[in-house]
Amino acid sequence: MNKKILVTGGLGYIGSHVVVELQNEGFQVIVIDNLSNSSMDVLDKIIEITGITPLFEKIDLRDKNMVSDFFKRHSDIYGVIHFAASKAVGESSNNPLKYYENNISPLVYILQQLEKIKDQNFIFSSSCTVYGQVDKSPITEDTLLKKAESPYGNTKKIGEQIIEDTCKINNNLNAISLRYFNPIGAHSSAKIGELPIGIPQNLVPFVTQTGIGIREELSIFGKDYPTPDGTCIRDYIHVVDLAKAHVIAMKRIILKDNSDNYEVFNLGTGKGSSVLEVVNAFEEISGIKLNYMFSERRAGDIAAAFADTQKANKILGWKSELSLNEAMLSAWEWEKKINSNI
Ligand code: NAD
Ligand code: WQD
Repeated sequence: MNKKILVTGGLGYIGSHVVVELQNEGFQVIVIDNLSNSSMDVLDKIIEITGITPLFEKIDLRDKNMVSDFFKRHSDIYGVIHFAASKAVGESSNNPLKYYENNISPLVYILQQLEKIKDQNFIFSSSCTVYGQVDKSPITEDTLLKKAESPYGNTKKIGEQIIEDTCKINNNLNAISLRYFNPIGAHSSAKIGELPIGIPQNLVPFVTQTGIGIREELSIFGKDYPTPDGTCIRDYIHVVDLAKAHVIAMKRIILKDNSDNYEVFNLGTGKGSSVLEVVNAFEEISGIKLNYMFSERRAGDIAAAFADTQKANKILGWKSELSLNEAMLSAWEWEKKINSNI
């Protein structure tokens, strides 16, 4: 397929991996990013990996006129994958309006532009956070969405609702929301990966930063959860597996293989891993004994959250392939690479 796909936030963690997979599959890619949480180096790395230079425009998608002008200049865009958003859960509670503005306005502006196009194909980065405090796992797409735990989580719920409502009245719009569980790891080249700003809030970057000596010690939040080893269980999915699902989802709507013009899929491995299992996997692949201690539970954490992936497996025809150890190894190779440049 050589159709032109717009990837918003395409220099970010997940977006950059998706640009690589799209280019590997022959798509023409145009990236929009405002570089608020990424840098131009990522574009160079994408070119090094794929040998292909994607088009790039530095645009802040909160600027409605810039969005409209962009679509006027690129009337041949065939699909949009929308990653651009702010994603720090804690920050969203301290600055909710930043999140409601950045995660909602660009989505509305893009959908307004798509209304002017005949074939409208749209993929949205959603999150398992839309399920809120679930009662049980595995979590299917039919699980009731509970109250969002944070303004960030709420923006993902609202985002999905906006797309669903728009699809109801616009049959030309084909959209898929992909609910990611816990994306981890990096590209096998170790040229692109996650670049957390400041102290990582997520487990895996904290583990690798502790392994390399940037952090002294990992705090494991809680050891008395009702799980086999007492630590929380999550569904850690390799970012490359996740990226491949986007290409499959885009092809599905482009080829009109979709059964409804709005669909939702969980993207996870379907297997839960505890915090201690993640630590063990890191120790195994790195040969390093990780310095960790147990601390109090973190507010808002639930004991277990992992995906039922049967819908994605059967209907999308996608399944994660890479193991936790492979994901941890790629995260570790990436951590070593970014620190070797300092
Ligand atoms: P990221 O911060 O690495 O990437 C987002 C990119 O969007 C960045 O390059 C940033 O500069 C850009 N951006 C932000 N606001 C913009 C704006 N107004 N205009 C143009 N560009 C803008 O984040 P990520 O981890 O790659 O996440 C991508 C998407 O996936 C987000 O929508 C996020 O909410 C969602 N998601 C992420 C996770 C995760 O754990 N990383 C889990 C579930 C869902
Ligand atoms: C994983 C586990 C922690 C750090 C978050 C967002 C969610 C989604 C994915 C975007 C938990 C434990 C963590 C540490 C620890 N993102 N932990 N010590 O909370 O499952 O999900 O990322 O949509 O919205 O909330 O991921 O990586 O923060 O935590 O013990 O220093 O690791 O308690 O059990 P989480 P996480």
